[in-house]
Amino acid sequence: MLMLIDYANVQAIQETLTYLPVDGVTTNPTILYREGKEPLELLHQIQEVLPEGAQLHVQLVSERAAGMVEEAKALRSEIPGNLFVKLPVTREGFAAIPRIVAEGIQVTATGIHSSMQGFMAAKAGARYVAPYVNRMDNFGIDGVRVATEIHRTLKSYGMETDVLAASFKNSEQVLELVRQGVGAITAAPEVLAALIKNPATDAAIAEQNRHFEILVGERRTWKDIIETR
Ligand code: G3P
Repeated sequence: MLMLIDYANVQAIQETLTYLPVDGVTTNPTILYREGKEPLELLHQIQEVLPEGAQLHVQLVSERAAGMVEEAKALRSEIPGNLFVKLPVTREGFAAIPRIVAEGIQVTATGIHSSMQGFMAAKAGARYVAPYVNRMDNFGIDGVRVATEIHRTLKSYGMETDVLAASFKNSEQVLELVRQGVGAITAAPEVLAALIKNPATDAAIAEQNRHFEILVGERRTWKDIIETR
């Protein structure tokens, strides 16, 4: 299971990398727009802080298949490393997927709002298919159920394509897809942070440490005890 950061703020990415086992970054035009920076320069800055081999997903904006192919090739020549170009599951996007894959460029099919779109994008050759979980929920469609169904369908055919579930507003949506065994999820830093946060953990550890302080003195650690023995 891969976990990716769906965000383009370099500082937030760096901070997340210091404590969470994440495998890369996904972006889209809105995520880049929010940073208000020249987008190519920003992609390079993101790549600089990512560990070697980490994935970087960048969404194409051409509307016609031919333009998407050219745009993908341009990105490939500019961005070294583990690049995935994200293609929308429009009719033109579907036409472009096999052509871009034939160029040796990895594809993530994005904007998926149904099981049918997910399965067809996998069949077209996408390495990842990205169902928009929370956006489906907002349309009254059970996004977790759709993402799970795509995952099960792909695996029942033994396809190499994985679900890269996206568009999360809370960590329970993420956790449910982890339980279902999807290949990858991408979420904003605060949603990823919530996966490990539990006030009961903080309270339990604080109480234990208070007891140790009473025993050995304020802020003294095992290291202090050993060195002053
Ligand atoms: O990157 C695509 C997806 O994560 C969109 O998320 O939060 O705009 O619904 P959101």
